[in-house]
Amino acid sequence: MTAHRHLLFLLSGGRPGGNTETLARRAAAALPPDAVQTWRDLSQPLLPAFHDRRHGDRYGPPEGTAAACLAETMAASDIVVVAPLYWYGLPAPAKLYLDHWSHWMRLPETGFKAAMPAKRVWLVLAHSGSTPDQIRPAEDCLRFSAEYMGARFMGSLIGYANAPGEILSDAGALAAADRFFPA
Ligand SMILES: Cc1cc2nc3c(=O)[nH]c(=O)nc-3n(C[C@H](O)[C@H](O)[C@H](O)COP(=O)(O)O)c2cc1C
Repeated sequence: MTAHRHLLFLLSGGRPGGNTETLARRAAAALPPDAVQTWRDLSQPLLPAFHDRRHGDRYGPPEGTAAACLAETMAASDIVVVAPLYWYGLPAPAKLYLDHWSHWMRLPETGFKAAMPAKRVWLVLAHSGSTPDQIRPAEDCLRFSAEYMGARFMGSLIGYANAPGEILSDAGALAAADRFFPA
């Protein structure tokens, strides 16, 4: 992969230090030292409610948390959504982040829409026993959203765990984490 990698890790689960974060930090630990990492918890603070102003009202510039999140997204070469499986989908904070893309892409002055095709998107996911068919909707939501923006979906790192810490028993997921991001 290219130099100047800057990965934005977006935590979206409802508890800090959970299985998904542990798995993502394991994958991040294998990154070369020149890869820049930014970590954001999408729940703390939560992005503002998304308002659909496509037809009628004009979108104003993003403010506060949304502006910070947009700036971090723009600075990143890689967006890593770190998401426990919640009801066969992405947790609400991750989905809300994707909804805000619909705002940002409509403001040419942000450069967001023009920049997205150069970005790579990844998923790190923990679940407690769902089948591949039950996991696929969460993965497809991120994959198709990334591809809609012209970004490249790079794949998913999936671990099995329920209570915090259980991910450390999923040897297959830990081994996959160690080689998830190419050197
Ligand atoms: C609201 C909620 C919904 C969940 N839905 C699913 C689900 O659909 N399938 C599944 O396998 N596990 C489900 N789980 C279990 C979590 O995915 C699992 O406990 C995971 O390890 C949590 O990750 P974390 O430790 O990073 O928070 C759900 C948990 C919560 C709190």
